[in-house]
Amino acid sequence: MTDAPLAQRTLVLVKPDGVRRGLAGEVLRRIEAKGYTLAAVELRHADEALLVEHYAEHAGKPFVGPLIAMMSSGPVLAIVAEGQRVVEGFRSLAGATDPTLAAPGTIRGDLARDWGRPVIENLVHGSDSPTSAEREIALWFPAL
Ligand code: PPS
Repeated sequence: MTDAPLAQRTLVLVKPDGVRRGLAGEVLRRIEAKGYTLAAVELRHADEALLVEHYAEHAGKPFVGPLIAMMSSGPVLAIVAEGQRVVEGFRSLAGATDPTLAAPGTIRGDLARDWGRPVIENLVHGSDSPTSAEREIALWFPAL
C-alpha cells in the first residue's frame, strides 16, 4: 500500500529513558506495525541549544529546565515518520503524557510508569501539530 501525495510527517523522539531501557526498537516496531513509513532514523546526543529550540513553545514553564536536563542525559533516537494523519496518529499510539494515566495498549500505557522522580519519564515525544512537526523536523533533520 502506498500513501497518496502530501502524506504528513511527524517527529518522534525516543527519549533517553526509552533508549536506556532498550525500548527504541519497540517504538520503531509500533510505528511500522501501524503502517507508517520511516523517513529518517538517527541516534544522537542532543545538545542544550537544540533542546531549547525544540521546547521553545514551552519556554518559561517550570518543567522545561529539568526536561531539557533529562533529554540531554543520554542519546535519543530521532525518527521522522510519514503517513496520512501521522501527527495525531502517533500521539494516539504514544498515549497520555502522564504514563500512569496512559491507556493500556499505548506506548506509554504499556511501557512507562512513574518512578517517583521529579521529571516525567514518558519514553517518547511526538509533534503536537503539523506546523510543529515541520518546525521540529527542520531542527533535527535540516537536510530533509
Ligand atoms: S502542556 O503544558 O500542556 O503543553 O504540556 P504537555 O503538552 O502535556 O507536555 C509538553 C511537553 O512537556 C513534557 N512535560 C514534562 N516533562 C517532564 N516533567 C514534567 N513535569 C512535564 N510536564 C510536561 C511532556 O512530556 C511534553 O514533552 P514531549 O517531549 O513533547 O513529550
